[in-house]
Parts: sequence; structure tokens; C-alpha cells
Amino acid sequence: MTKIGYIVGSIGSTSINRDLAEALVKLAPEGVEFTEIAIKDLPFFSTDLEVDLPQVVSDFKAAIEGVDGVIIATPEYSRSIPGVLKNAIEWSNRPYGQMSFSGTPVGVIGGSPGGIATAAAQQHLRAVLGHSDAIVMGQPEGFIQVTPGLIVDGEITNEGTKEFLMAYLGAFLGLVGRVQKANA
Ligand SMILES: Cc1cc2nc3c(=O)[nH]c(=O)nc-3n(C[C@H](O)[C@H](O)[C@H](O)COP(=O)(O)O)c2cc1C
Repeated sequence: MTKIGYIVGSIGSTSINRDLAEALVKLAPEGVEFTEIAIKDLPFFSTDLEVDLPQVVSDFKAAIEGVDGVIIATPEYSRSIPGVLKNAIEWSNRPYGQMSFSGTPVGVIGGSPGGIATAAAQQHLRAVLGHSDAIVMGQPEGFIQVTPGLIVDGEITNEGTKEFLMAYLGAFLGLVGRVQKANA
């Protein structure tokens, strides 16, 4: 069983990126288990808290370290990634020397109502993940314009988008498989 974690870079209950991530999960082939790695309960990063790491932070780091790959579905806020996602990545990289994403394959994807479809945010996220020593999938890039009716009851209604997402998933699982083989 291949274990994939997914992080939604938005904590809103009506997040379109949550819809996107959940729709992606539904397209997963057999033998792949998806689990959400939640970020909403993480405290704001502070060096004060590193002295006695909060349990929620330890759990978050262990969740990343316990999967074979992570997909991050992020919105774009103010032409970058949301603060809540950056905060989570801060925790993933601390305490010093304990980078939870190190050597982990990561797929970046994002949805927005607008045509730019999180392109700017994803460029920033790639830079941050590079520093985090993650193995970031280069292609395909996942810029999804989430128009009304695209995702209904967790299902992608547009055949072209569905095919793209399946290809995206296939490419990501291919990367995960290559990394597993290299580490075997
Ligand atoms: C604070 C804030 C900043 C935003 N900045 C951008 C932006 O820079 N680019 C963009 O395409 N959309 C921007 N949006 C619109 C978001 O794409 C839209 O709200 C989207 O639904 C957010 O994703 P979510 O529903 O998963 O949270 C912004 C929204 C908010 C609330």
C-alpha cells in the first residue's frame, strides 16, 4: 500500500482547494491510501514553543514523515501562499535539523476561481519546499481554474479536467515509486 498525505493550504470550511484535494483522492487507483495532514490546529510558529514541542506539532511532523509522498493543494493569497500554509511549513522544518519534508516527494497543485489559477503561489511554494529538501514534482504543473459547477459532490464534472487530474496523479505516483525504488 502506498501512503500519500495531502495538505490543504486553506482552513476555510468552504475551501475550493479542499474540494479539489478531495476530488483528487477519489481518483486514486487501488493500492493508494490518502490521508489528510491537517494544519488548522497548528499554533503560530514561535521559538518559545520549540522548547517543549506541542503534541499537535509532533503529530503533524510524524504524519509527514510517515507517508511515501505528500500532495499540497493550495490557494493563492496576495500572490503567494496563505500564511497558514507557510506556518505549517515552518513547523515542518523545526526544530533545527529536523526537516520533515526532507527526501519526501511532494506534488503541488492549486485551484482558484480566476484564470491565473494559483500560478504565483505555486512558484513561491516550490521555492520554500526546495529549501525544505523536498523532492518536488516538476511536471505536470497543476493550475486548476475552479469554475462554478466544476466540482459537484466531490466529483469533477469536466472530462478534460478529470483526465488531467488522473494524469497528474499518475505522474506523482510514478515519482513516489522511483524514490521508493532508489531508497530500497
Ligand atoms: C486574503 C485573500 C487573498 C487572495 N488573493 C488572491 C490572489 O492573489 N490570487 C488569486 O488568484 N486569488 C486570490 N484570492 C481569491 C482566492 O483564489 C479564492 O478566495 C479562493 O476561493 C481561495 O481558495 P480556498 O477557497 O481554497 O480558500 C484571495 C482570497 C483571499 C481571501
